[in-house]
Amino acid sequence: MDKRIITTNFKAEDGEFEPVLRPQSLDTYIGQDKVKENMRVYISATKQRGDCLDHVLLYGPPGLGKTTLSNIIANEMGANIKTTSGPAIERPGDMAAVLNNLSEGDILFIDEIHRLNRVVEEVLYPAMEDFVLDIVIGKGPAAKSIRIDLPKFTLIGATTRAGLLTAPLRDRFGVINRLELYTPEQLKQIIMRSANVLDIKIDDGGAMELARRSRGTPRIANRFLKRVRDFAQVKYSGVITEQVAKESLDILEVDNMGLDMTDRKMLLAMIEKFGGGPVGLETIAVSIGEEPDTIEDVYEPYLIQLGFIKRTPRGRVVTDLGCSHFGLSLFGNIGP
Ligand SMILES: Nc1ncnc2c1ncn2[C@@H]1O[C@H](COP(=O)(O)OP(=O)(O)OP(=O)(O)O)[C@@H](O)[C@H]1O
Ligand SMILES: [Mg+2]
Repeated sequence: MDKRIITTNFKAEDGEFEPVLRPQSLDTYIGQDKVKENMRVYISATKQRGDCLDHVLLYGPPGLGKTTLSNIIANEMGANIKTTSGPAIERPGDMAAVLNNLSEGDILFIDEIHRLNRVVEEVLYPAMEDFVLDIVIGKGPAAKSIRIDLPKFTLIGATTRAGLLTAPLRDRFGVINRLELYTPEQLKQIIMRSANVLDIKIDDGGAMELARRSRGTPRIANRFLKRVRDFAQVKYSGVITEQVAKESLDILEVDNMGLDMTDRKMLLAMIEKFGGGPVGLETIAVSIGEEPDTIEDVYEPYLIQLGFIKRTPRGRVVTDLGCSHFGLSLFGNIGP
């Protein structure tokens, strides 16, 4: 992992094309209409007042555009953005140094903010609330606390689930935005835009097929586009059509609803081992060898959106719709 505290690099996992694929303005950021509308109002109001934007918390499943949106907010504010992440800041002194290096109006983006440890987090409280740093010098009875003024800045925090934040931290954000999974129609627009940027030939049917299988997530849509381009180039005429998209994603073991091996393993375990549920998250996790957090952040949101599983107070249940995806019923198999 990158150990530097402040980095301007984008996540390596998205590859060399990442910077060019990120939209730079609210107008080119597709979907998330409610969030965009809110941010437009806050941004223009604070700019009119010559003020600093309130602290913003962005939460939602991985790959929905939290990092992208943070950079856009900075662009729209005309502000500098400094980027760091929860796990990269290990000691309170590191956090104090980061804050002390900010200039008036800067945006500080903290990715995976739920992974800050408690003592580091406590440095943030007075900084967010009153723009000051409280520093303790010395130890024991001789210890003295001094207060340093900070420039006014905006903190943007990103996390996969708002529930992972401590209450005192969450309460210090003035603006809390939840990002939603994208519709196939919106993903199609994102795919068309990316294809245009990367000079990939794709037709309408091809884009829609990739969109339907991208589980509501732009990062997955862009990844599929790049993978399927290779198939189109080597095995077909070079253009991504519906047929090419279907056959390539079948080879990648992504089914017609966008489910991958893990989704299928999880649903089948719930149906076959636990009679469709209710079954607890931990139990599901153990039975398929995944982390409970990964299931909750990555797999479950899409399965819930599809209506394949439901959360109940007693655990997760597979719905009739979820069963019928496998040609199964909770009262025995359907069909031949
Ligand atoms: N609204 C959007 N319009 C167009 N492209 C988008 C949009 N949202 C995200 N993308 C694309 O999806 C990819 C992933 O976005 P991003 O890195 O911002 O997600 P994230 O929410 O920060 O993910 P993580 O939780 O893993 O940090 C980027 O390549 C970006 O170009
Ligand atoms: Mg991110």
